[in-house]
Amino acid sequence: MAFSNDQVSKEETEKIIKLARKALEIPGDFVEMGCYKGDTSLLLAEIIRGSGKKLWIYDSFEGLPEKGEMDESVLGVNFKKGELSVTKREVKKRFLKAGLPVPVITKGWFSELAPTDLPENIAFAFLDGDFYESIRDSLRLVLPKMAKNGILVVHDYTNPALPGVKNAVDEVREDFKDIKVVLL
Ligand SMILES: C[S@@+](CC[C@H](N)C(=O)[O-])C[C@H]1O[C@@H](n2cnc3c(N)ncnc32)[C@H](O)[C@@H]1O
Repeated sequence: MAFSNDQVSKEETEKIIKLARKALEIPGDFVEMGCYKGDTSLLLAEIIRGSGKKLWIYDSFEGLPEKGEMDESVLGVNFKKGELSVTKREVKKRFLKAGLPVPVITKGWFSELAPTDLPENIAFAFLDGDFYESIRDSLRLVLPKMAKNGILVVHDYTNPALPGVKNAVDEVREDFKDIKVVLL
């Protein structure tokens, strides 16, 4: 698997691959909230190929939203509104070019998505929205749909430049029942 990724480190990517492979044994689909240009999505698509599972990916395709006060960190000054913007069309093209099935790609702010925009049963979810509200809204959407023993991976929990991620996760830790949560 050789897709480069400038948002997720090599070590984190290796962990994600391992966990995603494990999630193949769990009934349900794969989800990525905050796909950006689709680097991790391509990996996930390759992992589920031939398994009968579907990949569902989500992004504003307008880049990052405005930061809130829960996100304030002197280390995170580079994370600005509108950064990391690509089009849905560009992402779709990358799957076609790689010869991988195109996922269900939904454009929208996480706060505006409805439960019906997500699959009924989620075996594996990767949350990578960077900011407090983005992770809070992603958790609200995916948690009720996680399969028993499903795997939830949250990126940037340990990243001091993005403190909002930890803030959002810690608020709902008690709701992590019957799932495996991995905080990168
Ligand atoms: C760090 S990038 C994701 C990187 C990607 N997961 C990867 O592995 O390559 C964060 C993405 O989340 C999206 N995003 C952040 N907050 C969002 C929100 N509230 N609603 C929709 N998209 C959001 C941004 O547009 C951006 O593309």
